[in-house]
Amino acid sequence: MSNQPDDAREGWLGRVLAVEGSEARIGLASPLPSGQGRPTVGKFVAISGQETTVVGMISDVTLRAEEIDGSRTVARVDLLGEIERTPAGNARFRRGVREYAAIGDPARMLGSSELTLIYAATSPRAITLGHLSQDPSIPAYVDTDQMLAKHFAVVGSTGVGKSSAVAAILAKMTEVRPDLRVLLLDVHNEYRAAFGERANVIGAENLRLPFWLFNFEETLAVLYGGKPAAPEEAEILAELIPVAKAKYQAVPERAPERVSVERRQVPRHSGFTADTPAPYQLQDLLGLIHERMGKLENRSSAMSHHRLMNRIDAIRNDPRYEFMFRQANLGGDTMAEVLNQVFSIDSDRPLTILKLASLPDEVIDAVVCVLARLAFDFALWSDGAIPILLACEEAHRYASADRLAGFAPARRALKRIAREGRKYGVHLCLVTQRPAELDPTIISQCSTFFVMRMTNDADQALLRSAVSEAAANLLGFVPSLGAQEAIGIGEGLPLVARITFSTLPREAIPQSESGARGEAERPRERGEIVRAAIERWRRATTSHSLRLEEAPRPEPAPLAPTAGPALSLRRSDAAPRPWNGTR
Ligand SMILES: Nc1ncnc2c1ncn2[C@@H]1O[C@H](COP(=O)(O)OP(=O)(O)OP(=O)(O)O)[C@@H](O)[C@H]1O
Ligand SMILES: [Mg+2]
Repeated sequence: MSNQPDDAREGWLGRVLAVEGSEARIGLASPLPSGQGRPTVGKFVAISGQETTVVGMISDVTLRAEEIDGSRTVARVDLLGEIERTPAGNARFRRGVREYAAIGDPARMLGSSELTLIYAATSPRAITLGHLSQDPSIPAYVDTDQMLAKHFAVVGSTGVGKSSAVAAILAKMTEVRPDLRVLLLDVHNEYRAAFGERANVIGAENLRLPFWLFNFEETLAVLYGGKPAAPEEAEILAELIPVAKAKYQAVPERAPERVSVERRQVPRHSGFTADTPAPYQLQDLLGLIHERMGKLENRSSAMSHHRLMNRIDAIRNDPRYEFMFRQANLGGDTMAEVLNQVFSIDSDRPLTILKLASLPDEVIDAVVCVLARLAFDFALWSDGAIPILLACEEAHRYASADRLAGFAPARRALKRIAREGRKYGVHLCLVTQRPAELDPTIISQCSTFFVMRMTNDADQALLRSAVSEAAANLLGFVPSLGAQEAIGIGEGLPLVARITFSTLPREAIPQSESGARGEAERPRERGEIVRAAIERWRRATTSHSLRLEEAPRPEPAPLAPTAGPALSLRRSDAAPRPWNGTR
């Protein structure tokens, strides 16, 4: 023990006046010794007890009308953890308080060496993201194992540095966790350069998600553009998709293990359901629908069959859906290849970037839904052998709090990962400007948050409700955070912290491909820019606006299933909208 009088010690603040629950009140000495940090909200204090030093954060400072114990200014402090001596004599920080502060205990500002101790990397799989804002000499470590024990979120207004933070987190996380596979849903096609050789990139030109991998609900979502399916048509599909799957399996060269099955002998009850991820041929499905239609007496039912066939053929011939039909039936059962492609399972590159902006708006929801479901189902059926992180930019888009917005199956798939994914090693990294618009169940399952500058009250209120009280106090700083700054909260950090992300080298900053290209190219004339824009615009409009004529025809024309129905296509009235991440 030192012989110095208390108020001469470095950082001296005063003494504990009251303790209630996990909160203490400290009477601040007046005047405070000069040359120390001021006791303002968000600063850490140390309260010296008999065995340990209790660490707390100032949540409120008040000037009282009357003096108590010689002090008029009182600081309220949330008690967060304690520094204790190990049996070997080393100091160690622990979250939570076992020995509470007592009245009269001396309090002081937490010193730099103690801050370093608290925020030191304690796990070999910790990564440093930057430094503490209050002391640039102290690195801000996060523990990736803790971050991946559940899910994490990066939130903040536009342009504050979310994508840059995500690029830094994912790059470092995959270095210390080489077993992890990351699928990044890149909404603005901006991450390709950030990871260089460490990422496989998939876009409209090479994505392969065969239609037969879609479960029943997803198939309906594609066929009906996310609107409710016509019940009679859905019934036909529910009955015939399993038959088409059985028919595919019954051909010996497609499924050599089933050689005993006679080529044309298609078991009607194969055990397949419309959800089984087994290949079938669209041609077979169309043939089966046609065959079923031929047996009908009822004309209106024949119309349903006819409409359904038209619908299937329209999707098959729509260039926007090419990724569902590209080599879908070549090479037989390609499910392993598809999983390898989207999750880079067999690759030495740990990341896969899916350039969603290269896909048309209408199909993005279905693609996200299928991928989220595949991630979960693969993890489930492989007993979590390969941990997967699904990083969703603009997460509020797929998992909206508004039940009427977005795409219900995608929300359900993400919710399932949020609730049960950790058991099988599937995790979410959610990135959004609008946390209040994100499904509350999903937010409540996140255990680590990086909250960047944000001014919207609803967003701040939502986060306050999702985190501890001490962290909620620090969220008061959120509107005034600087660029690249975040409040880090939760399991991944030893204590809630205001951190400044390291500045990334230029090539590692996510930036949209068009922006990056523009800088590298020769300067273009403005007239040329306009001409090129119109050309791309028209091209996109042409492929975007082929729509199946919905109006039923008076007479169902006889239709050969192999010839493809005579389609009536019209230009859509709705102008194509490049998706901007909001709806
Ligand atoms: N860690 C960083 N290192 C270097 N530059 C950064 C960093 N964070 C942000 N920036 C700068 O800020 C810009 C915007 O950052 P970023 O794209 O990450 O923001 P965002 O929050 O993802 O924006 P949006 O909401 O529009 O997606 C970057 O282009 C870069 O210039
Ligand atoms: Mg961004």
